[in-house]
Amino acid sequence: MIVDLIAGTRPNFVKIASLIRAIEQRTDSLVAYRLIHTGQHYDNAMSGSFFNQLEIPAPYINLDTGSGSQAVQTAAIMTRYEAHLEESPADLCLVVGDVNSTMACAITARKLGVHVAHVEAGIRSRDWSMPEEINRVVTDSISNWYYTTTEDAGENLRKEGVADSSIVFVGNTMIDTLLHFKDRFVEPAIWQDQKLCEGEYLVLTMHRPSNVDKGDQFHTLLQAITAGAEGLPVIFPVHPRTQQVLSTLDCANNLVVTQALSYLEFNYLVKHAKGVVTDSGGITEETTVLGVPCVTIRDNTERPETVRLGTNVLAGTDPEKVESHVRNMSVGTWKQGTVPDRWDGLAATRILDHLTTLA
Ligand code: UD1
Repeated sequence: MIVDLIAGTRPNFVKIASLIRAIEQRTDSLVAYRLIHTGQHYDNAMSGSFFNQLEIPAPYINLDTGSGSQAVQTAAIMTRYEAHLEESPADLCLVVGDVNSTMACAITARKLGVHVAHVEAGIRSRDWSMPEEINRVVTDSISNWYYTTTEDAGENLRKEGVADSSIVFVGNTMIDTLLHFKDRFVEPAIWQDQKLCEGEYLVLTMHRPSNVDKGDQFHTLLQAITAGAEGLPVIFPVHPRTQQVLSTLDCANNLVVTQALSYLEFNYLVKHAKGVVTDSGGITEETTVLGVPCVTIRDNTERPETVRLGTNVLAGTDPEKVESHVRNMSVGTWKQGTVPDRWDGLAATRILDHLTTLA
């Protein structure tokens, strides 16, 4: 059975790395894969370094679609993936996560009669202002197989009418990758440059359009975070989207801006931090497993288990509340978390077991 594995962005690469390892390790596997890189992310920092560090083989094909508006990017991915599939059919298209590449390839495959499997299916923020929520709901409305990270996600799907027999609770492939590499994290140059010490700095990531695209809102949030840090340095590896706005702002002295980091360097910083402040979803899963306190600057999350069980607190986007949560984290007042069920490093193996039954 030929499976197209679709990956286009930074978090996708982390999610497919474990699946590729599982397929390659099973030498008598009936499942053969073709890695399709859509080209949604293309810089070395956003793409190349992830392939190198996570030992992902070169893609079978790179669709080289690049950046653009939501519609332009989605259309480019669909057009190019359709041409590829028509010339070289697959038995199954496996998509991960909730980015434009996920939705675009799922629609394209299904319309050409190719079955679709969705990894990380069923999570819901109910926030329709996020392109990711639209991507999730559309992808799940046309998938054939649903690999879920939690029981909650399966419940969301059943409520939407998905048959129980199509849902497989496998765990979390992003956590598979984290556990596989966690003893190999790499100290980034900024550790020495800033004379960082374990537990004496915060890590910040922000790239959601709703938080960073309006300069005033972004500036107010940065002021709240740096004030709440109580003098701790706030290390901010910057996504290219954020960089454009950040360069126009005047920020506090304890905000230390650095370029986007590679996977092993970023997670080194996270593992040794006092805490993390973020608007990413995937990072809240990683901090939960690493046991590092985390403040999420969003009004909702599609990953409620990171709050209910893990180390994550949903702070919203009100600057006063953000500052207060960051202060609690900085002075060391935080809950202990536990790790959700099946986030145990075996999710990719469970997916491969299921794919094998389809082969
Ligand atoms: C995308 C995903 C988001 C995910 C994020 C991870 C969608 C709708 N959004 O957001 O869910 O959390 O990836 O990083 O799919 N750029 C570069 N180099 C690159 C890629 C992008 O400089 O390699 C710049 C471009 O200016 C581009 C901007 O970043 O316009 C945004 O990239 P895009 O792929 O549109 O969305 P992300 O914000 O990265």
